[in-house]
Amino acid sequence: MMDGFDLVLRGGWLVLPWGIEQADVGVRAGRIAAMGDLGQVPAAATLECRNLHVLPGLIDPHVHLRDPGDPAVETIPDGTRAAVLGGIATVFDMPNTAEPITDTARLDRKRAGLAGRAWCDVGLYVAATKANIPGLAALEQQPGVCAIKVFTGSARGEMLVEDDASLEALMRSGRRRVCYHAEDHFRLTERRALFEVGDPPARHMDWHDVECAFLGTRRVVALARATGRPAHIVHVSTAEELDYLAEHRDIASVEVLVNHLSQVGPEAYEKLGGYAVMSPPIRERRHLDAAWAAVRDGRVDCIGSDHAPHSRAAKERPWPETASGLTGVQTLLPVMLDHVAAGKLSLTHLAELMSAGPARVYWALRKGRLAVGYDADFTVVDTRHRRTIEESWIASPCGWTPFAGHRCTGWPKATVVRGNVVMREDEVLGTPVGAAVAFR
Ligand code: DOR
Repeated sequence: MMDGFDLVLRGGWLVLPWGIEQADVGVRAGRIAAMGDLGQVPAAATLECRNLHVLPGLIDPHVHLRDPGDPAVETIPDGTRAAVLGGIATVFDMPNTAEPITDTARLDRKRAGLAGRAWCDVGLYVAATKANIPGLAALEQQPGVCAIKVFTGSARGEMLVEDDASLEALMRSGRRRVCYHAEDHFRLTERRALFEVGDPPARHMDWHDVECAFLGTRRVVALARATGRPAHIVHVSTAEELDYLAEHRDIASVEVLVNHLSQVGPEAYEKLGGYAVMSPPIRERRHLDAAWAAVRDGRVDCIGSDHAPHSRAAKERPWPETASGLTGVQTLLPVMLDHVAAGKLSLTHLAELMSAGPARVYWALRKGRLAVGYDADFTVVDTRHRRTIEESWIASPCGWTPFAGHRCTGWPKATVVRGNVVMREDEVLGTPVGAAVAFR
């Protein structure tokens, strides 16, 4: 008889890369040890999954957990608690914190801050600055680093790398994934003068217009081609970029945000005011339609939340002084499951875009699929459960969500991180077991 398991997930519908099959999953020492009929094998613990779907642990590749930063807005414990409540088993955390993650000392401090504080596993971005380019090749090789993040626009201070010479130099330094917030700084700066404080927040679509995004993406892709260094363009937000990037799949990969698949302007701004302001912006319906067309025909590699909490006071400042960014890690999966229920994509496709895709693009080891030998990370969902997103459910201290009142069909029931059931039926369980993710 087979050795016993630490945990068995019983009788769920497993979302495998090749289709959906009903089977048990046995976990030993934090890894998937067996799949099949495991009814006869002893198990120290079981998780009943009958009538539920078992997805590979979902990865949100784009969160800003604000730690170090302002604990009244968010911390690693709060942000990762929000993640597991929302069915997310791994997050990749952006480096634009206070202090920004630009060198090994800061990275070491941030990684040390995961132990005993993170509820899910965490990949860490490091930021490119004009000053740290010579050290990037070494920095990107440090444990836990998922990628380099570059802001070519929409950033201030040392994290802005807007000129071609610096971009080319950083592309030539290193070999791992480089992720671009590709809006064009020069066009953004020039256009700022067209708007006045107190203009309606829907003007965010005009300030950060289509050409700001498209111009920036064209510039990054041209430099990626010239240097041979692949580019991952995060939060692609326009029909124009999605068509263009289809011609560059050998050198560029694509992230689309749940917001750009779910919300449109000007309606979102009329309803939410400053709580709809993010960069790149929520845009007109034709861009949402183009994002869904790109999802359907395979042009999108990853879906993320760009979880970027800010205090209510910062969101309520008159536009364009409104802080840009929306809370999102906890609502990402419920909103995407609702799209599954509406027939926009299949659960298998969701697992591809929210687990396998990020694992492939960022070279995460042992994550992204249900397979023996992989990490025992699972997102267990009930595709028929109906529930309305309420602000009282949001674990981030900022306390708001742009999806308040959104009625979802489909809800996360359990989150398992390397064999530890950290969330079940809305309850966070055990201790924070999250650790830095291993990357190739
Ligand atoms: O709207 C945004 N907010 N876009 C970004 O790229 C950064 C983010 C933040 O950190 O607040």
